[in-house]
Parts: sequence; C-alpha cells; structure tokens
Amino acid sequence: MHTQSPRCRRRGHFFFAVARAAPGTRSASDRGPAFNPRMKCAPPMTPVMPLRFFRVLAAAVALLLSSAALGQDLEAGKEVYGPCAACHGAYGEGGKGGEYPRVAGQSVGFTVASLKQFQERRRNNLPMFPYTEPRELSERDMKDVAAYLASIQLPTKPPEFKDTDSALERLVKMERVLVVPRVEGDTRKGRALFRKQCAKCHGPSAQGKEQKGAPSLVGQYPSYLQKQFDAYRKGERGAEKDDPMKGTLDTLSAQDLTDVLAWLTSIQDETPEAEGDAAP
Ligand code: HEC
Ligand code: HEC
Repeated sequence: MHTQSPRCRRRGHFFFAVARAAPGTRSASDRGPAFNPRMKCAPPMTPVMPLRFFRVLAAAVALLLSSAALGQDLEAGKEVYGPCAACHGAYGEGGKGGEYPRVAGQSVGFTVASLKQFQERRRNNLPMFPYTEPRELSERDMKDVAAYLASIQLPTKPPEFKDTDSALERLVKMERVLVVPRVEGDTRKGRALFRKQCAKCHGPSAQGKEQKGAPSLVGQYPSYLQKQFDAYRKGERGAEKDDPMKGTLDTLSAQDLTDVLAWLTSIQDETPEAEGDAAP
C-alpha cells in the first residue's frame, strides 16, 4: 500500500476521471499541461465524491483541453503552412487563376488524403513533390496543416469596414475575399445533373462531405476543376485504388461538365442547403 499526500489524492481522482471520460483527448502526453507526467499519483481505489460530479467536471475539463489542443494544432499548422503560401496564397485562397488551387476550407480528411497522394507520388504533380517529402512533411504536420486550412473561411463578399480601419487593415480584409470567375452555361441543367450524380458524395450544395472524403467544389477555381475532370477521365488523377470518382464522369459530355461548372460558380455566395433539401 503506497501513501499519497492529500493534494495528490485529490488530483489523482480528478485526473483519473478526466482520463477515463475523455479517451479521445490527445493531450495525454504530448500537449496539454493537465496530464503532467510529473504527477505520479496512483489512481485512487475508492471514490470519495459521487461519480456524477466527476463526470460533469471531466466533461468540462475535456472540452477545455481539446480546444486548447486544437489551438496548438492551429498554431503548429500555421507554421507548417509557411512555405505553402508561396503558391497557395497567404490564406489558402490559391493563385494564378487556379493553377494553384484554393486549399482553405477543405476538410481535414480530404487535405491529408491529398497530401499523402502527392507524397506517395500516386497523384502526379511536380510542384507539390518537394513539399510533401516525408523529411519536409511528417504525418503530424499533415494533420496540423490540414486543421489549420480547414479553419480558414474565405468570404465571398467585401467586409464592412469600420471608420477606424486603417488602409492596411482594409487591404488585409479585402485580400481574404475570394470570388472565382463565373463560367457560362446552363446552370439549371448543371444543377440537376449535379444533384443526380454528384450530390450524394459532394453534398447538395457541393460543399463536400468529410465522411465520404469528397472535397468542397464551391469556391474552387473552375479552371482547376476542369483540369481535374480531365485528369479523372484520363485515369491520371491517381487517387486510391478503389477511386470513388472512378466512372462518375464517364457518362457526361464536355457541355454537361461546363454546365456543372456554370452552376457551381453561380452559387458561391449562397448558404449551403442541408441534406434534406437535396431534391433535384
Ligand atoms: C511550388 C508551388 C506549390 C507549393 C509550394 C505547394 N503547392 Fe500544393 N499544389 C500546387 C499545385 C500546382 C497543385 C495542383 C495539382 C494538380 O493540378 O493536380 C497543388 C495541389 C495541392 C492540394 C490539392 C488540392 C485539391 O483540391 O486537389 C493540396 C491539399 C495542397 N496542394 C496543399 C499544399 C500544402 C499543404 C503545401 C505546403 C506543405 C503545398 N501545397 C505547397 C503547388 C504548390
Ligand atoms: C461515390 C462518391 C462520389 C461521387 C458520386 C462523385 N464524387 Fe467527386 N470526389 C469524390 C471523392 C472521394 C473525391 C476525392 C478523391 C480524390 O482526391 O480523387 C472527389 C473529388 C472530386 C474532384 C476533385 C476536386 C479537387 O479539389 O481536387 C472533382 C472536380 C469532383 N470530385 C467532381 C465530381 C463531379 C462533377 C461529380 C458528379 C458528376 C462527382 N465528383 C461525383 C467522391 C465522389
């Protein structure tokens, strides 16, 4: 039987409850200060307070810890993103009219999967290779940079300025506004086609679905999307072996895809519709 100081006993209960109630909290050893390895208290054998009290407390603390950990990820991700900004822009808005795609606002899952595809050279793109070498970009870095990019929202309308905003502040606010060029075409046909053949994975308003690994297509440069259409059709995109996009574009004519782009670029500043509104 080991002895514990009263302080130790109190904290032992507390942290044991947190650790048990929040198995997903990743601050266990690497980040948050709460799981301080210096704290060597053994978990207590008998509860001294009602368990429900600890559960509530644990949930509150877990929430605090996970947002703190997320904050650290975002900071780390911002740092990882440094060299990427040269091509993808300061806010992940992309550049050169879509030669460099927008990467802001995509789901963590899609960005990590894309980076792996470049790293493993399944997806062929010379400019991306040096930046995704394992030496340059660890798995941890991929997740951090993906979390950072997912957290960036790019408005489609100019912000309201305050009288006190300096010229520089106005410029910075304006820089984030991203409106991609419109494509001419039949938006009604494009929408119907999309709802029928693409929405189940990309969402009714093409906002992407993380659980399907499908990216948002709204607010992406149409020239970039067209390039990806061509790559899929030629079998050159090189995603997974069981590529979810495989065959999805085969029945569509070039005009159909132009109509889809016309619709996608016409809904940039609309609020995405929820799943239930997806009727074609
Ligand atoms: C030298 C320019 C350059 C740099 C630097 C660069 N990229 Fe890219 N990136 C590209 C190009 C070009 C593409 C488009 C590839 C294609 O056409 O398929 C791309 C594509 C991507 C995509 C896929 C987006 C999509 O929707 O398909 C992601 C994600 C991405 N880059 C993230 C990053 C990250 C993160 C970094 C930094 C670690 C980075 N890039 C650095 C040029 C660059
Ligand atoms: C079965 C699910 C599924 C369906 C249906 C589907 N997609 Fe996708 N799509 C995906 C997934 C998953 C990805 C990401 C995989 C990858 O990186 O290749 C993707 C990627 C894309 C991309 C690349 C975007 C980027 O930023 O790199 C485009 C463009 C695209 N889809 C367009 C379409 C269109 C248009 C349709 C309908 C004609 C469609 N998709 C139907 C699952 C689907």
